Amino acid sequence: MAKMWAGVTAGRTDRLADDFNSSIRFDSRMARQDITGSIAHAAMLAAKGIISEADCDALTEGLTGILEDLESGKLLIDESAEDIHMFVEQVLTERIGDTGKKLHTARSRNDQVALDLRMYLRDESDEIAALIRGFLHVLTDLAEKHTETIMPGYTHLQRAQPVSFGHYMMAYAMMLLRDLDRLKDCRKRINISPIGCCALAGTTYDTDRYLEAEKLGFDGICLNSMDGVSDRDFALELLSALSILMMHLSRLSEELILWASWEFRFISFSDAYTTGSSIMPQKRNADMAELVRGKTGRVYGDLMGLLTTLKGLPLAYNKDMQEDKEGVFDACDTVKMCLKIMTPMLATMTVNRENMLRAAQGGFINATDLADWLVKKGMPFRNAYKISGQLVRTCMESGQVLETLPLETYRTYSELFDESLYEAIDLKTCMEKRISEGGTSAASVEKQIAFVRKELNQ
Ligand code: ARG
Repeated sequence: MAKMWAGVTAGRTDRLADDFNSSIRFDSRMARQDITGSIAHAAMLAAKGIISEADCDALTEGLTGILEDLESGKLLIDESAEDIHMFVEQVLTERIGDTGKKLHTARSRNDQVALDLRMYLRDESDEIAALIRGFLHVLTDLAEKHTETIMPGYTHLQRAQPVSFGHYMMAYAMMLLRDLDRLKDCRKRINISPIGCCALAGTTYDTDRYLEAEKLGFDGICLNSMDGVSDRDFALELLSALSILMMHLSRLSEELILWASWEFRFISFSDAYTTGSSIMPQKRNADMAELVRGKTGRVYGDLMGLLTTLKGLPLAYNKDMQEDKEGVFDACDTVKMCLKIMTPMLATMTVNRENMLRAAQGGFINATDLADWLVKKGMPFRNAYKISGQLVRTCMESGQVLETLPLETYRTYSELFDESLYEAIDLKTCMEKRISEGGTSAASVEKQIAFVRKELNQ
């Protein structure tokens, strides 16, 4: 069959070329947005007297019927169609006759596809935002339960200072909160309407782009028609935000994988999120967390793919831009799946307080507190740091820890030492005394939790 765009050519393309050219396999997921957009377009055309009210009614009814039939499964996507836009218009014309051919007045597929993609990504970013919020609830609930659960905090993956598990979880909560904010921010720029830019230069019809944009819930319109049909920076922004989000989820996953190992045993996953080995019966693998970590790579790939596709394109529309969709769809699907897995996985995992405490008791993570104690007694920090280091070394050589080293030994290093040092280097004290804003004390973590919850309630 000749193409709808048959004009200067006969519109009869090679079968393989057709297949190569077609995007219906992946753009049919924008059917709802395409049809909703077309209904608004018909309404605008009628409001401006470009088509009659009767035509508008026929178009609206036809389009609504197509959407219903697609969603109920009564109408199947024709996989041989060129794209979702052509498919809908063709079915419409088959159903309502020549009036269907009026729909494409004062628009082009170039602004139509940009519109559909913006509407689709707007919905996706809302869905992802809701999932992040759900995940944040789990993180804050976990943190609340563990404001007093002592574990070692690390730098260079070496035990550094005691922190609470709640503080640890809130670190991720802060990251995820910024991810949420990034999504919200990029949604502002997604939510600008390109419809009415037409092919590239605008149109000679007296259209009302603001009216059409408003009907579709947009906050504004693209003010330059060439920009409106050419740029996909809104998709890149979303991909960037999703890449950063995945980076956070991946880091958390990496920690969870480590913590679930025999070497740490800080946490264990519920059976629902644990896999076994086909050969080693003892295995409890953290496949879900590993997959989240692994899938981060493909989301980065989606971002790099689109950046690369766009980088050499002259204005305005080029068919290369059809390649914008699969990557960004894949990224949205992947992120949603990861959040849907991580949220219940964290909600159901067991936190092994004893193992965390045991790990915190080794590694001299109160050495800074010992130095600080000397500073409070009047010693300059550098000297105190040195003495604390020497004491750690003594402990290491004699197989002791700072908590058990006798006072006489302490006093051979400094006359300032007295009994009260033991209280100061108690791990619980070390944690509770970190009262600086944002520190690990329970009071500070509670404040952080309250902050995140307040943000979530807004
Ligand atoms: N399927 C196309 C895309 O995804 C729609 C726009 C086609 N426009 C054109 N002038 N060929 O980008």
